[in-house]
Amino acid sequence: MTQDEQKQAVAREAIRHVVPDSWVGVGSGSTANFFIDELARIKHNIKGAVSSSAKSTARLQAHGIEVEELNNVDDIPVYIDGADEVTRWGAMVKGGGGALTREKVVAAASRKFVCIVDRTKVVPVLGTFGLPVEVIPMARSYVARELVHLGGRPAWRMGFTTDNGNVILDVDGLAITDPTALETTINQIPGVVTVGLFAHRGADVILVGSDTGVETLTPAR
Ligand code: 5RP
Repeated sequence: MTQDEQKQAVAREAIRHVVPDSWVGVGSGSTANFFIDELARIKHNIKGAVSSSAKSTARLQAHGIEVEELNNVDDIPVYIDGADEVTRWGAMVKGGGGALTREKVVAAASRKFVCIVDRTKVVPVLGTFGLPVEVIPMARSYVARELVHLGGRPAWRMGFTTDNGNVILDVDGLAITDPTALETTINQIPGVVTVGLFAHRGADVILVGSDTGVETLTPAR
């Protein structure tokens, strides 16, 4: 299977986790796009979607799927999203597409996180993919210096503005051996909106696409 076929296979498998007559939390990125396309097939069986980005909202609405504000929804049984890296224990790096903050909020508000990835995303240790950090614009240089103190090499994602009007620093060189601790540390730097480490609220289920099909991992939490 090609990488896209693997993404499509996990997106199809993720539909089995959607709870009928309820809201679905929907992530962002190319794998989430495949999921949105699959969700369109069962749109009459769900209340609608809570979206994590303007791009996903546009795709959902193009399919005729109702998109509701998170503020108006009190129960989301499942959130389905891709990742840039994921460990078998469910910790993830996310934010390659820059939607990390809304992804983290919708994931936190959901009862179950189903991560859908092709096999290239499963890693023993996080950190090869540059860690995205969303920062308010006036704090960019200060936060970058703090990230250097932590051992990272931050680079400003030039020309990119998040859906929240902020900037992204992509940080290379961090040894992410304790994702939960690093998530806490970076989130405490003034000016940081969100770090793209999803460890405190990691994945409950990981669907991994490979040449032979879809493998389901259920990290102990
Ligand atoms: C966007 C994300 C995506 O989930 C992540 O970048 C994976 O994207 P793709 O499925 O295109 O590889 O976090 O902010």
